[in-house]
Amino acid sequence: MKFEDLLNPIGVEKFNDELKGKKAFYIKSAKNIFKDYYSWKELDNYLNQYRIGSWDRTPQLQMVMPSGRKWCKKKSQKHRDREEILDLWNQGSSIILTLSEFLNETMWKQCQEFEKHYGIGQANIYCSKQAKAKTFPIHADSTDNFLFHVRGKIRWYIYEEFVTNNYHPKEEDVTVSRIIELDEGDLLYIPKGLFHRVETLSPRISISFHFQEKGKHPYKRNDWYDWKP
Ligand SMILES: [Fe+2]
Repeated sequence: MKFEDLLNPIGVEKFNDELKGKKAFYIKSAKNIFKDYYSWKELDNYLNQYRIGSWDRTPQLQMVMPSGRKWCKKKSQKHRDREEILDLWNQGSSIILTLSEFLNETMWKQCQEFEKHYGIGQANIYCSKQAKAKTFPIHADSTDNFLFHVRGKIRWYIYEEFVTNNYHPKEEDVTVSRIIELDEGDLLYIPKGLFHRVETLSPRISISFHFQEKGKHPYKRNDWYDWKP
């Protein structure tokens, strides 16, 4: 989707002048305009490649542990077998597939579109099996974030404060400014550094597209080639 169309009815000019870097906002959609971005079927296919053979087929996999901490397949010291991952998933741990924009053409092209306005970006896919799933505690991100809500329903807590030295405040250290419920097809913008957390209200898939500021990163995205016969 074109950046202009995503931001309709706010418009790119108003976004740049009044909202970018300053204010969270969301745009509701009458239908699920993000339904082709990622599906449960794609997640199922991806996770069934976990730990088969010696090739690392699932390097993107991360999970939110019951403690609220992140487990990262690539970087965490602890290895987990597929049954353990499945148990955690069934008990409500959310799954994150980081750097996943290359998993399909739709996400790749969406990044290309954002990169006309931003520097290089990436897509992180957040999935949870159920309501009240385990998600990250209050935090702020270091980039601007466009959240495409793809499946299910979710509640966002947006706080008034932007990050200073304390990256992980407790609930009593910050003030809720808005509570937003997102349905399939809704878009949420979170400026970099603004504190937030989420609560799942059902099984869900959300994709966070986030971007460096323009000119900050030398990497340039390749075109998506069409290999289809
Ligand atoms: Fe975040």
